[in-house]
Amino acid sequence: MNIWNDLARHHAATASRPLLALFDDPARASGFSIEACDFLLDYSKTGIDAEARALLLSLAEASGVEARREAMFTGAAINETEGRAVLHTALRNMQGRLEVAGYEVLAETRATYARLAAFARALREGRFRGQGGVITDVVNIGIGGSDLGPAMAVLALAPYHTGPRCHFVSNVDGAQVADVLRPLDPETTLVIVASKTFTTIETMTNAAAARAWMAAKVADPAAQFAAVSSDLDRTAAFGIAPERVFGFADWVGGRFSVWGPVGLPLMLAIGPAHFEAFLAGAAEMDAHFRAAPLARNLPVLLALVGVWHNQICGYATRAVLPYEQRLSRLPAYLQQLEMESNGKRVAMDGSDLPRHSGPIVWGEPGTNGQHAFFQLLHQGTRIVPCEFLLAAEGHEPWLDHQHLLLVANCLAQSEALMRGRSLAEATQLMQASGLSGDECDRQARHRVFPGNRPSTTLLYPRLTPHVLGGILALYEHRVFCEGVILGINSFDQWGVELGKELALALAPVLAGTDAGGGKDASTLALANRIRAIRDH
Ligand code: F6P
Repeated sequence: MNIWNDLARHHAATASRPLLALFDDPARASGFSIEACDFLLDYSKTGIDAEARALLLSLAEASGVEARREAMFTGAAINETEGRAVLHTALRNMQGRLEVAGYEVLAETRATYARLAAFARALREGRFRGQGGVITDVVNIGIGGSDLGPAMAVLALAPYHTGPRCHFVSNVDGAQVADVLRPLDPETTLVIVASKTFTTIETMTNAAAARAWMAAKVADPAAQFAAVSSDLDRTAAFGIAPERVFGFADWVGGRFSVWGPVGLPLMLAIGPAHFEAFLAGAAEMDAHFRAAPLARNLPVLLALVGVWHNQICGYATRAVLPYEQRLSRLPAYLQQLEMESNGKRVAMDGSDLPRHSGPIVWGEPGTNGQHAFFQLLHQGTRIVPCEFLLAAEGHEPWLDHQHLLLVANCLAQSEALMRGRSLAEATQLMQASGLSGDECDRQARHRVFPGNRPSTTLLYPRLTPHVLGGILALYEHRVFCEGVILGINSFDQWGVELGKELALALAPVLAGTDAGGGKDASTLALANRIRAIRDH
C-alpha cells in the first residue's frame, strides 16, 4: 500500500522537527486531543501532525477497519485460524439482541450472568457458607487471561471492596500456592478454578494442591470449590457441582474474558451492582467505537498513535505508565492483551508479515518508575513512547494533597520528555552552581536532556468501576485496530504452544525415566545437573 510509503516519507521529512515547535500552533493541544466517554486522550506531545494524521486515517480506512469492526460486533468468524467469532463485547451488552447463525447469543450470556450474580449475592450475604461459616477469603486459581484480568481489576477497585478478600494463584511454582494458602482457613475459603479449557497444567496442578489443602481440614472439599470453564465434563470429573460451574463460549478469548465468569472474583469483591457499572463503562466504549467516524474515534486514534510510533518511527517498545498505584497490574494485563494478540509474524493468510509485529509493552506505575527506569526514558539512546494514564481525582479526600503531587509529577514527566534541557541551559545551571572551565562543560553534558520524546496522556475523572471498564475496552479495541492494520489475526495464540509441548517432554527427562534422546546438549546438560543436585 502506498500509504505506508507516504507515511515513511512524511516521517523522514519531519523527524528532526522539535515537538515543541508543533505548539507554535495555538490550537495544537485541543486539535490533537480527543474526548469520548469518560476520557480525554491528549496525543499532542507526539510527532503526529495534520498530514500524518490524515495519512494514518487513510491507512485505517484502506485496511478495512470499519468493515472488520462490524464483522466483529455481529459475530462473524474473524478469528480465522480457529474458525471462531470474537464476541467478548457480547458479555457487556446488557440491552440489545444479537443473533448469530439463527441463535440468540445474548440470552445465554445473560442467563449465565444471572447465575453468577445470584451466586455472588448468596456468598456476600452469607447464604452460601463454608463448612466453618461465612466465606472470608476467595482464592482464584488460573493463569493468563484467567488470572490477569480479575487480579488487575480487584486491585484497581479496592475502594469498592465490600466482599471477601480475594487472592490469586497462577504460577506453577508451588511457592505461590503455598504462600497464598498458608494464612487462610480452609473452612471459610472458596476456591475458584478458572480455566477456559480446564487442561492448563499450571491451573490443574495448583487446583489439585488446593484440594489437598482443603481436604486436610474440611469434610467435603468439593463443596467449597467453584469453576469457571467451558468444559463441563472436565469440571464434573474434578468433582465440582454443576450449580457452581460458570461457563463461557469459545468466542470469548482468554485475554478478553474478564467481563464474564472469569470476572467472578471481582464481582465477589465489589458486588454485582458495581460489576454492572464496570460492564456499562465498557459497553459505552463499545458503542462509541462502533459508531464514531474514524477521525473522532478514541480507540482508532490510540491505535494510530501506536502504529505511528511502532511501524513508522521504528520504536520497538512502548511504556504504559499509570499514575495510579491501584493500576499497578495494568501493564502486565496489557502485556498479554497486546503481545499475545499482535505478536505475530505472519499475516492472516499465512504469508510473512512485511513489517514488524506489534510492539513490546511494558511499564510500572508512576511515581515509582521515576526512581527506577525513567533515567533511560529521559537520557537513554533509544526512544520509548510513553503512555501516561491519570485520574483528575483520587478516592481519598484526606489525601487530596498527595493526589495533586501525583498529578504534578505525571504532567512534569511528559513535559520533561518533550521539552528536554539544552546544553546551553545545562551549562548555565552548572555555572550558577559555581563551576567553570572543563569541569563545567563535562558536568553540563551529563545534565543535557535531548527531549523530543513522545508521550500520550489518557485523562479520566476518577478510577471508578465505570471508568475501569472503559479503559479496558479502549485498549481491547486499540489492539483490534492495530491488528487489522497489520493484517494479522489478533485472536489466536499459537506462539505459546511449543514451550508447553517441550515442557511436557522434559518432565520424564528430569524424573530420570527418559534419557532425553534428541535434546540439544545444553538442555540435556542442565537437566542432568539439576537431577544430580536433587539426588544429592
Ligand atoms: O497459554 C496461553 C493461554 O491459552 C492464554 O491465552 C490463556 O489466557 C491462558 O493460557 C489460560 O488458559 P485457560 O483459561 O484455558 O486455562
